Amino acid sequence: MNKNRKILVLAGDGIGPEVMKEVLLINKWLDKNFKTNFEISERLVGGAAYDAEGDSISDATIEEALNSDAVLFGAVGGDKWNDVKREKRPEAALLRLRKEMDLFANLRPAIAFDALTKSSSLKENLIKGLDILIVRELTSGVYFGKPKGIETLKNNEKKAVDTQSYSTSEIKRIAEIGFDLSKKRNKVVTSVDKANVMETGLLWRNIVNEVHAEKYNDIDLSHMYADNCAMQLVRNPKQFDVIITDNLFGDILSDCAAMLTGSLGMLPSASLGAINIEGKRLGMYEPVHGSAPDIAGKDIANPLAMILSFSMMLNYSFNMIEESSMIDKAVQSVLAKGNRTKDIAEKSENYISTSSMGMLLIEELNKILES
Ligand code: IPM
Ligand code: MG
Repeated sequence: MNKNRKILVLAGDGIGPEVMKEVLLINKWLDKNFKTNFEISERLVGGAAYDAEGDSISDATIEEALNSDAVLFGAVGGDKWNDVKREKRPEAALLRLRKEMDLFANLRPAIAFDALTKSSSLKENLIKGLDILIVRELTSGVYFGKPKGIETLKNNEKKAVDTQSYSTSEIKRIAEIGFDLSKKRNKVVTSVDKANVMETGLLWRNIVNEVHAEKYNDIDLSHMYADNCAMQLVRNPKQFDVIITDNLFGDILSDCAAMLTGSLGMLPSASLGAINIEGKRLGMYEPVHGSAPDIAGKDIANPLAMILSFSMMLNYSFNMIEESSMIDKAVQSVLAKGNRTKDIAEKSENYISTSSMGMLLIEELNKILES
């Protein structure tokens, strides 16, 4: 059953391969118990691909990503590649995948796990139970706008230009995703822009209002300037449910939201494309954390964000809601029993290795299955 479900695994650099290893074990477990039959292929990406193949992502890998149903992405980058030119840098692989797979909707949940609320820099009562979803536009805005570059002026001064641009359809499709997702949540959306200074912000706000009036007027929509949103996130984060915002603001606000959960090493993300003519929506799933070269190879990285990204994949790409929530539950109970990797352990607590965390999770899954 369930044939032809192709997953491309791009583990990447640093701790990427270590945390991915645990996901592959969970995948084996799923296959054994649910006959999921995913067809998995693995390729290099980031610095690892640059070293072996001369570029941070090869055309063949892009091709394979486009022919897969979902991509699982670990992490890329590290000091080793600091001097590589921008087009070949590890991060360029990520941007190219986003653009070529047309992954315009980046879903970044910021969830405070009960067991970890003490690790937040905010007071516990402000973040206990926090559950925000940031919906970030991912394939346009200042990341990709043209012109872009550095030129030398006549007086020998240099001038750098990045262009912030958004079209109606680009704003419309991200707004629709945000509103649709909010229907399964609390039906409260905050759209974030800088309409007070930027033309793109003005258009953003108008289009979001239009989409809202047209199809989603049962949803509570408000608008907020990006600077105010940053402030509100640290003042009273629980006022938010779904935040819809552009590429750059989304980059910044999602880091802020992630950190205040106290669970940065725990947060997954999904990047989704449009539904194509075959009725298929491409998706890429990756942890919010980076490649952490300083702790790579030590078997101490936290694999949970990668595992939760895998769970998001089951949910969004394959509609395997039950399996996905089983994994989420297993993560909650492993944490509730006091198991911690180094990044989330308090000073007095012992911590366990990456592979032990993976093993405990599988034990937990077995228990859930038996119950
Ligand atoms: C992220 C990262 C990337 C971004 C970098 C690595 C290109 O910060 O996914 O948030 O800026 O989008
Ligand atoms: Mg970022």
